[in-house]
Amino acid sequence: MDKLVIRGGNPLLGTVRISGAKNAALPCMAAALLTDEPVILENIPQVRDIETTRKLLAAMGAEVELGYGRAHHRTTICARTLAAPEASYELVKTMRASTLVLGPLVARCGRARVSLPGGCAIGARPIDLHIKGLERLGAKITQEHGYVEATADRLKGAEIVFDKITVTGTEDLLMAATLADGETVMQNCAREPEVADLAALLNAMGARIQGAGTSTIRVKGVAQLHGARHRIIPDRIEAGTFIVAGALTGGDLNVAGCDPAHLTAILQKLAETGVKTAVKADSVRVMGDQPLQAADMNTEEYPGFPTDMQAQYMALATQAEGTSIVVENIFENRFMHAQELVRMGANIKIEGRRAIVRGGTPLSAAAVLASDLRASASLVLAALVADGETIIDRVYHLDRGYENIEEKLKLVGAEIRRVGDIFPKRAAAPARNSV
Ligand code: EPZ
Repeated sequence: MDKLVIRGGNPLLGTVRISGAKNAALPCMAAALLTDEPVILENIPQVRDIETTRKLLAAMGAEVELGYGRAHHRTTICARTLAAPEASYELVKTMRASTLVLGPLVARCGRARVSLPGGCAIGARPIDLHIKGLERLGAKITQEHGYVEATADRLKGAEIVFDKITVTGTEDLLMAATLADGETVMQNCAREPEVADLAALLNAMGARIQGAGTSTIRVKGVAQLHGARHRIIPDRIEAGTFIVAGALTGGDLNVAGCDPAHLTAILQKLAETGVKTAVKADSVRVMGDQPLQAADMNTEEYPGFPTDMQAQYMALATQAEGTSIVVENIFENRFMHAQELVRMGANIKIEGRRAIVRGGTPLSAAAVLASDLRASASLVLAALVADGETIIDRVYHLDRGYENIEEKLKLVGAEIRRVGDIFPKRAAAPARNSV
C-alpha cells in the first residue's frame, strides 16, 4: 500500500496546473449512457475514480477508450449496446458516485439494477432522494438484497422538489429527465458548477435544459440524444487545495488553469484570514507572506464554502493566530482528519458538527493515516509545514481525486516522495538448492 513521505518547511514557489474536475467528469461519463453514439470528453483527470467509472461502463457493455497522452486527457465512450444495465456492489462500494448511472440507465434502457452504495467514512450517504425523484418520473422501484431495481417503459416529465439539496441527486434526475416524455421542472436543485457542466454536455447532445446552475431546472424531454464532444471544467477543489498550500507554506504560487469564478467563497474566506491573492481570468496567484489570522467557517452548498474544502481549511486554521470555529453542515462525520492533525500537534476540539481550532500550534511530523479523499489532502497540507518527515499511509484515498499530486508539489519545491511499504517484508530465505 503506497505511502507519501513529506519533509515540511519548504515554501511552494512557481506554477502548478489544475486538472479537470473529477466531480464533473463522473456525471459526464454517465451521461454517455443516454445515447448510442460516441461521446468524447476532454480534460479528464487521471485519477482512480475515473478508472472505476471506466470499468463500470465497460461492464455494462459500453465501449470506453481512456487515454492520458501528453496531448490530451480524453475518453471516448460509445454505449451502442448495453447488455447489462447494472452497477455491481464490487464497484459501487469503491465509489458511491456509481449511483449516477441509475437515472441514465432507466431513461435509456427502461431498467437498471444498481447496488445501494452503503455508507462511507464521511457519512451515511443515502440515495433516497434519487429514488423519490425517479418515482416522480414514473419509474417502478424495488429494493432487495442491497440493490435498487428501477423499471419504466418511458419516464414521464414531472414536478420534482428536492427535500434536501443533493449534487448527484440533481445530476442523476437531470439525466433521466432528458429522455422523459414531456417537461420536468426540478426545484431546490444543487447549483454546483459541475451540475452546469453536465447540462452543457447534455444540451450539446440534443437535450433541452434551462436553468442548470440555479435552484430551478427545466427539462423538455426528447426522444433521443446524439453524440457530442465536451471539455470538462477545471477542478475547483484541487485549485482550492493548492491555494491553501501556497498560503500555508508562505510561498508564492501561481495556480493556473483554474476558473476563479468557481472559487469565490474560498477566496473570500482566505482573504478573511489574511491570505493575499491576485486573480486573473484562469489563474490565482497566492502570496503567503502575511501572518494568518483565525476566521470562523461554515460549510454550505454552492455558492457557499464547499464541504470538500473543509478539511483543507482546518489544516490552515491550525496555523492561524487565534481560534477558528469550523462547522460542517453537509455531512455528519467529516472530521476524521482532526484527530490525525492533533497527533501532529494541532489543538482541535470536536463538539458535534463544530470543530474548535486553536491556532498558532507548530506541527511536528508523524506517521498518519488517510481516511477519505479530502482528509488525505488535509494531511498533505499539514505535512508541508510540519517539522520533520511525515509518513501518510493509505494514500489510495488521495489518488481517487488528485492527479499526480506528488509530481505537482515537487515541481513547486515540496520535498515529497511516494514509497511502497516503508518496512518491506523480510525477503524470503533463499531457497535451498534442491538436491
Ligand atoms: C457530491 O456528493 C460530491 N461527489 C461530494 O464530493 C461532495 O462532498 C458532495 O456532493 C457535497 O458537495 C460527487 O459529485 C461525485 P449530496 P453527493 O448528495 O452528491 C444527503 C469528494 O470529496 N443526501 O450533495 O453524494 C447526504 O447524506 C466528494 O469529491 C440525502 O439525504 O452529496 C448529505 O448529507 C465527497 N439523500 C447531503 O444530502 C440523498 O438521496 C448532501 O449530499 C442524497 C443526499
